[in-house]
Amino acid sequence: TGYITIDSGYKNTGSTTSAITFLDGEEGILRYRGYPIEQLAEQASFLEVAYLLIYGELPTQSELEQFENSITKHTLVHEDMKQFFEAYPAKAHPMGVLASMICSLSSFYPESLDPNRSNDAKNLTIHRLLAKLPTLAAWSYKNSMRHPFNYPNNEYDYVKNFMHMMFSLPSEKYEVNPVVVSALNKLLILHADHEQNCSTSTVRIVGSSQANLYATISSGIAALWGPLHGGANQAVIEMLEKIHNDGGDVDKWVAKAKDKDDPFRLMGFGHRVYKNFDPRATIIKKACDDVLQAMNIHDPLLDIAKKLEKYALEDEYFKARNLYPNVDFYSGIIYKAIGIPTDMFTVMFALGRLPGWIAQWKEMTENGEPIGRPRQIYTGYTTRDYVAIDKR
Ligand code: CMC
Repeated sequence: TGYITIDSGYKNTGSTTSAITFLDGEEGILRYRGYPIEQLAEQASFLEVAYLLIYGELPTQSELEQFENSITKHTLVHEDMKQFFEAYPAKAHPMGVLASMICSLSSFYPESLDPNRSNDAKNLTIHRLLAKLPTLAAWSYKNSMRHPFNYPNNEYDYVKNFMHMMFSLPSEKYEVNPVVVSALNKLLILHADHEQNCSTSTVRIVGSSQANLYATISSGIAALWGPLHGGANQAVIEMLEKIHNDGGDVDKWVAKAKDKDDPFRLMGFGHRVYKNFDPRATIIKKACDDVLQAMNIHDPLLDIAKKLEKYALEDEYFKARNLYPNVDFYSGIIYKAIGIPTDMFTVMFALGRLPGWIAQWKEMTENGEPIGRPRQIYTGYTTRDYVAIDKR
């Protein structure tokens, strides 16, 4: 049976081979299918990147048009699903609502339950997911406001359509600053994949049981929700607000983060893999400045963020542990500037990560990987006899 080595948190365990995302944490390199993240973020559209991740190559013009048309065609969700939303309390966290809604799609498309369905049928599920997630995400927000839902406007591109469903009134012609659309497009691209992180590993392990793709993606959303993963962007803004409301004394909060007896950590700092800098943070920082300038926003939270960033670069504690601002540090500030409420931040991450989850699921199933099933070392009682309840 051999030895079992415990690797808590799988810090040194490779779970798969993958041809999707290359990441070098020491050098701060991130590439999707060989293309540097910087080039993709500057030049590509989110759906182009989604296509690249899922199908392995950048699409030609006609492939992209076909892909976009197919996704546009499926943006509506079944009217019955509106009732699900209405049954949730207005205060329901949109990540919980989104995970449930995505899983519920499997009830409307039961053919997705067949792991042996044709490739065309599998592609349809993929396109439906990409098409419907923005609608469901925006509706979960509208529902939390008890506002009427906005139907998708298929004349808009992916990002603008999402913003329209979030922010405009039904039937209103939606106008938005192109700098904002461009920043959001970049943000989604930067979040689109990140190899075997917690939610992606969850997707691969759930998918390895041949659970349907909707349920599988729903499990990824659940994993992403946690504050140590995708929930960090929400935690960053909450932390900045807390520091601001406490008088803005950055030194005090940095000291708390360094104090080992204090559970407080600087949210948006540190990364399991990037131990030099997070290349996504560099791109987002610039997009963040652009958005604030274009919208003429001066945000005191950004001043606090900048002070914290300076600390990380200069302070011995942070230097010794290679703690730098990560992607979540700046993304929250952009989301806040464009009016996305804090509890929707992780939903934005899910919107971006969806093509990565799909690509990883597709790769895993096509490679015929076995069901995921880690081992353990048992540390409990050896054996004991059952004791009747009145004798305990
Ligand atoms: N503030 C203060 N100290 C920290 C922080 C922080 N944010 N992050 C790590 N440390 C310290 C930690 O206390 C430890 O110190 P020591 O060696 O003295 O015990 C050392 O740095 C190493 O930390 P670790 O927890 O062993 O590192 P990890 O690789 O297990 O954790 C992390 C990575 C991202 C969970 C962690 O840095 C963290 O909790 N950061 C804050 C939450 C956050 O921003 N998460 C978003 C991650 S990026 C988005 C994503 O991919 O999901």
